[in-house]
Amino acid sequence: MDRIIIQGGKRLSGEVVVSGSKNAALPILISSLLTPEPCTYQSVPHLADIRTTIKLLSGLGDKSDNQRWLDGADELTLQADQIRNFEAPYDLVKTMRASFLVIGPLVARFGQARVSTPGGCAIGARPVDLHLKGLEALGATIEQTHGYVEATAAKLRGAKIYLDLPSVGATENIMMAATLAEGTTLIENAAKEPEIDDLAKALNAMGARIQGAGTDIIQIDGVDSLGGVNHRIIPDRIEAGSFVIAAALTHGDVLVKGARTDHLEALMIKLKEAGVSFTADGHGIRVRQNGKIKSVDVKTLPYPGFPTDLQAQMMVLMAVADGVSVITETIFENRFMHAQELDRMGAQIKLEGSRAIVRGVGDLSGAPVMASDLRASVALVLAGLVANGTTEISRVYHLDRGYEQIEKKLSYLGAQIVRVPGAN
Ligand code: UD1
Repeated sequence: MDRIIIQGGKRLSGEVVVSGSKNAALPILISSLLTPEPCTYQSVPHLADIRTTIKLLSGLGDKSDNQRWLDGADELTLQADQIRNFEAPYDLVKTMRASFLVIGPLVARFGQARVSTPGGCAIGARPVDLHLKGLEALGATIEQTHGYVEATAAKLRGAKIYLDLPSVGATENIMMAATLAEGTTLIENAAKEPEIDDLAKALNAMGARIQGAGTDIIQIDGVDSLGGVNHRIIPDRIEAGSFVIAAALTHGDVLVKGARTDHLEALMIKLKEAGVSFTADGHGIRVRQNGKIKSVDVKTLPYPGFPTDLQAQMMVLMAVADGVSVITETIFENRFMHAQELDRMGAQIKLEGSRAIVRGVGDLSGAPVMASDLRASVALVLAGLVANGTTEISRVYHLDRGYEQIEKKLSYLGAQIVRVPGAN
């Protein structure tokens, strides 16, 4: 397995371009299942999760030629005109939970789907009950056997659906299914993340009739069929936020090109409170950090609250800040695995259930550490950038799921970071 080795202490400076959003691209690529016509997407990031999605779609019968994208182009065309198989197997769903999103489009267009349940993962139980309740409300029959969910429906019918939690995945799955249902669907307490809005834009460009995406009530008026689309994916707000934090941590001077402040308000408010100096315009966010970083308290919440996907990175910043910070995680129950690795690097973090009490120590020291999930991995990279000496991170395959060429982008900004390939 590959490792990443970082010599810490280098100040980052220069420009870095944010890639297309992983979490927008995954459902949008999957939404191509709703039409037999070609769907072309730009700004598709080169990530392991996108390759898994392509594998998933080709397993269902999508015969699209992805060579240009595989060779490095950021444009990808998918055409689901030869779907013969309606099953998402365990090995793919277990690798990438978002694979479960095929169930909505498949049952809406073909009346059948068989999808493995995702099971647990490193950051908690993560059930799919809300996805299934929503599809049942639209008239699908749901059966669960041998670790698979089978959904069937002659024709979905619009319904009023209230989500007990504003789940991102459930909102996306139900929204996609409802585009081809008969009549009107209302999703109440819907997730409001920018990725939902981007998916709705892509679907509307295919001929869907969706209003209210990005608010907590989404209305979908069903249509008989959808057509092809040409859509550019939004920039990845979590990658952008990670670079902004990296720049602040290293007291750098970095322009994060493509970072959208309107998608990162909660982070930027917290960073301002912490004494991070930045300016923002239509091109991106520029961090120029001179002064001290102060401790601030952070609580993760559904969008527009502070994103759980930036909690680990923020913890690194707090680990070297002046004072004590309380970080509360409310979205996932087991998302502090990075804390014990950061402790190995000299951080002082005490865990109390869903709260982490982080006492700023000023300096971290390089150490061998192990990545446990996607966002924890990037947190360890950030810690390595600011630590004294060498940090060696193992299990970096997690990083490749969500960060496009991270070591290249950071090297370009002046970090001393290399990937050492290893046997699998
Ligand atoms: C998406 C993001 C992930 C991010 C998360 C929260 C993608 C591909 N992934 O994940 O990066 O961390 O949003 O912002 O977009 N839940 C239920 N029942 C359900 C569904 C969810 O109880 O049927 C719970 C989950 O266990 C979790 C919470 O709801 O505690 C939020 O999950 P959800 O918003 O669904 O996250 P994902 O869509 O899986």
